[in-house]
Amino acid sequence: MKKVDVVLGLQWGDEGKGKVVDVLTPGYDVVARFQGGPNAGHSIHFAGDSFVLHTVPSGIFREGTVNIIGNGVVIDPVILMEEISAIEAKGVDVASRLRIAKRANLILPTHRALDAANEAAKGKSKIGSTLKGIGPAYTDKIARSGLRVGDIKSADFEAKYNTLKGQHLKSLKALDYEAEFSEYERKWMECVKKLSDFEFIDNEVVVNDFLKKDTAILAEGAQGSLLDIDFGTYPFVTSSNTLCAGACTGLGVAPSRIGQVYGIFKAYCTRVGSGPFPTELFDETGEKLRQVGHEFGATTGRPRRCGWLDLVALKYTVMMNGATSLIMMKADVMNDFDTIKVAVGYKVNGKIIDWFPYEACDTEIEPVYKEFKGWKCDINDIRDYDALPQELKDYISFIEHETGVPVSTVSVGPDRDATIFRSL
Ligand code: GDP
Ligand code: IMO
Ligand code: MG
Repeated sequence: MKKVDVVLGLQWGDEGKGKVVDVLTPGYDVVARFQGGPNAGHSIHFAGDSFVLHTVPSGIFREGTVNIIGNGVVIDPVILMEEISAIEAKGVDVASRLRIAKRANLILPTHRALDAANEAAKGKSKIGSTLKGIGPAYTDKIARSGLRVGDIKSADFEAKYNTLKGQHLKSLKALDYEAEFSEYERKWMECVKKLSDFEFIDNEVVVNDFLKKDTAILAEGAQGSLLDIDFGTYPFVTSSNTLCAGACTGLGVAPSRIGQVYGIFKAYCTRVGSGPFPTELFDETGEKLRQVGHEFGATTGRPRRCGWLDLVALKYTVMMNGATSLIMMKADVMNDFDTIKVAVGYKVNGKIIDWFPYEACDTEIEPVYKEFKGWKCDINDIRDYDALPQELKDYISFIEHETGVPVSTVSVGPDRDATIFRSL
């Protein structure tokens, strides 16, 4: 019986998961998103065109691939339908390629209002949410009062919607938050109807049937491991399990059915929103990473915070995900750096530690750096691992040595083709 391979981010999101899934899809029959929602922005570039996907799996552009939005995902019908229309405009017959889990929860217009209200109430300690309603939608899921995709076709859908909306209005009033969402609600209802044209599935049954028939499945994560609700930099996290374990609960597959775990990381680090970031750079080097790497949010357009690669954090997330191979992105952004630094330890309260501490949000962390010589040449057109500059190969070897996991692939540009597969 086949296993599900997983692609997930090892840092704070935006590692390049969309590109990797698109690149790996020809080796799979099915691509399935397992958590998160339209807070995600997964960019794909090919044939001179580019796309940002929020809810639709990144295998959608490859003919013959079934794309599943799993039960662990939260869906805003307005954003999903806009995304589908944009993909259809490129000549893709989305309906024939897309299946949606009945068990996926819906993001209501009032969830978005609540997200904004909660952030406003937090004042200075706000999370920096994408304001897509993610937290409130998952809150309702856990509170067992959410609406699910499968409810759309039930006769009392509107009554259920109004009950939940009524609860939200009370909460908004208690937060003294005025929200105008009537236009969004009108569009939402329209999009909910349009969504009924798509195939709603019991994804846990479909996925396990596929496995029995030896069908190759790739699970696509969103966000990153350091934004995980349990193990991320809480409370500055998202509201789902972004780790590999989330692929099990978000698709209905057993842990024993997980195969390869591809851990995606940037050759440096970025983060959007608030929260600890030990290797963050506030100087011109950070600005250089942001400008050369075009580090601006794919969903919100916000400038991403930039810093050096953090091996303490990377080792922590590799451990929890059981990553079987690493995929390194955006090394090309550092083509013109004389020196590259990597955090190999943290100095906390005068002591050197080499793990990611629980106290990360309340304690000053001073990174201990190891320095590497930059390669000072353009690597964007290289497609053969052996042809990469020795300085970059030394950098990669060190990462492999520290994490104990091989770097199987190196991405040297946003395009599908700018990818080096290594024979290990
Ligand atoms: P995701 O959320 O993990 O899918 O990542 P995003 O799409 O939000 O952000 C990654 C950004 O880096 C996108 O703009 C990609 O097009 C771009 N990108 C991906 N891989 C590479 C690479 O190897 N080099 C460069 N320069 N850009 C890349
Ligand atoms: P992809 O899949 C980067 C961040 C937000 C905020 C925190 C909580 O593109 O990698 P939320 O809207 O979930 O309540 O926001 O999480 N965040 C992301 N950062 N990439 C993402 O997704 C993110 N999704 C959420 O900036 O700090
Ligand atoms: Mg992104």
